[in-house]
Amino acid sequence: MAAEITGRIKQAQAIFGGIADDYDRPAQLFGLLRYRFWQRELAAMIAERKPAWVLDMCTGTGSIAAEIAQRCAGRIVAVDVTRAMLTRARRNLVLLGERTIFLQAAAQCPPFCDNAFDVVVFSYLLRYVDDVPGTIAALGRLVKPGGMLASLEFGVPPDPILRALWTVYTRVLLRAGLSLLSPGWRRVGGFLGHSIADFYRRHPISALEGYFQAAGFKVHPTRRLSAGGGVIMSGTKLAAGGEP
Ligand SMILES: C[S@@+](CC[C@H](N)C(=O)[O-])C[C@H]1O[C@@H](n2cnc3c(N)ncnc32)[C@H](O)[C@@H]1O
Repeated sequence: MAAEITGRIKQAQAIFGGIADDYDRPAQLFGLLRYRFWQRELAAMIAERKPAWVLDMCTGTGSIAAEIAQRCAGRIVAVDVTRAMLTRARRNLVLLGERTIFLQAAAQCPPFCDNAFDVVVFSYLLRYVDDVPGTIAALGRLVKPGGMLASLEFGVPPDPILRALWTVYTRVLLRAGLSLLSPGWRRVGGFLGHSIADFYRRHPISALEGYFQAAGFKVHPTRRLSAGGGVIMSGTKLAAGGEP
């Protein structure tokens, strides 16, 4: 594995290893109760396809995997680079038994064959990788022709007034609130707002859609949820001849 990938992975493991034991409630609370709602929207889109095999890359505590499992009968491979997050996911999804397989691996070099999954989903991943188009391409290769690649990420509201409120919330209130929880959450509060805004400066939504296209996907209309605070992007993999 290249040194820069290894450095990024260690950084992500340090961040998420520090908050794995108490992740879900703060994420939901400081996501203004939208965190689970967005995950459910994404899970509903995935379930419509009735996938037999789903890869949930950067599963975290497994909450999207759980939402998908409630809606369809397929099997789910839940992958994360942080061991402590996977441990939580395993506990949270124990009732699903053999329907779920857990694996510690990195999204930049996923250890699966091409065209292995009906759906590959990832959420809140791309701000933690250096090569965004390369990571999308690596995950896209795992999708069967006709299958779906789908992502969920925090967004920046396009409306100027809402964007100003969002900036105050993420830079002041969120930061202050998270700093009260634990040293791990204080660290997250210190970078989250900047990290989201900076991500879209470097990779506007149109560029991200372009990465999906370059990876061989027919891009579906991007969904901005909750005034743009959440962004769902997805596409259907084209066959070699260009047909979905
Ligand atoms: C903000 S959490 C989101 C977890 C989950 N997807 C959710 O919606 O709640 C980001 C997750 O991505 C994982 N992660 C970060 N970089 C990764 C990488 N390069 N490969 C795989 N997982 C990664 C972290 O360990 C963490 O569990």
